[in-house]
Amino acid sequence: MKNVIISPSVLGADFLNFGKEVQKIKDAGIKWIHFDVMDGRFVKNISFGNLFLERINSQIDLVKDVHIMIENPLSMVEKFAECGADYLTFHYEACKDDVEVFKVIDKIHECGMKAGISVKPGTPVAKVFPFLHSLDLVLIMSVEPGLGGQKFIDLSLNKISALRNKINEEKVSVLISVDGGINDVTGADCVTVGADVLVVGQYLFGHEDFEERYTRLIK
Ligand code: DX5
Ligand code: ZN
Repeated sequence: MKNVIISPSVLGADFLNFGKEVQKIKDAGIKWIHFDVMDGRFVKNISFGNLFLERINSQIDLVKDVHIMIENPLSMVEKFAECGADYLTFHYEACKDDVEVFKVIDKIHECGMKAGISVKPGTPVAKVFPFLHSLDLVLIMSVEPGLGGQKFIDLSLNKISALRNKINEEKVSVLISVDGGINDVTGADCVTVGADVLVVGQYLFGHEDFEERYTRLIK
């Protein structure tokens, strides 16, 4: 059994049966849940936002792993704290410079959440190295953000591995999460090179065998 956290991305879930989908996550013994917030500006789609999360918050006793694909993340940090996010992960590319990145991280911590930063496939992972001592999580996007169900980009494995080496070298406690195109094969590859968390959408949802699929991810 691998020592890996699975964070099911509800973007792949059946929204008409949302409560049942959450129950499947709990029944499988999964502890995390991943929410993809999109603003139609930083990425082309609009998904759901803080008010949606606020409405369901009290009924979901899982670690809420919230990935905000939005412009101006600093302006929304408090709102996501109010709706119960445990981890708040914003995009490096959404900030104008490193000073702003530090401001967002500090604000997330001030609001009582864990701070994550995400990089798109085209952004070198070394861009987040200056922030490692302040972060709780780095999310490597293994597809272009904005849509579920895309194919895993193999070059992501090099980024995970470089990040793992840097984290070990710096002796910091930062989780490496990978998001996009994860299945039992690509997930295993990510864990081999150092991932701690796998965000999984369409591989888990929309099939009859949720628990079997989860088992294959952690085997
Ligand atoms: C993409 C999202 C992902 C996505 C993962 O912008 O951040 O969380 O929903 O979905 P799958 O596993 O279907 O690629
Ligand atoms: Zn995501």
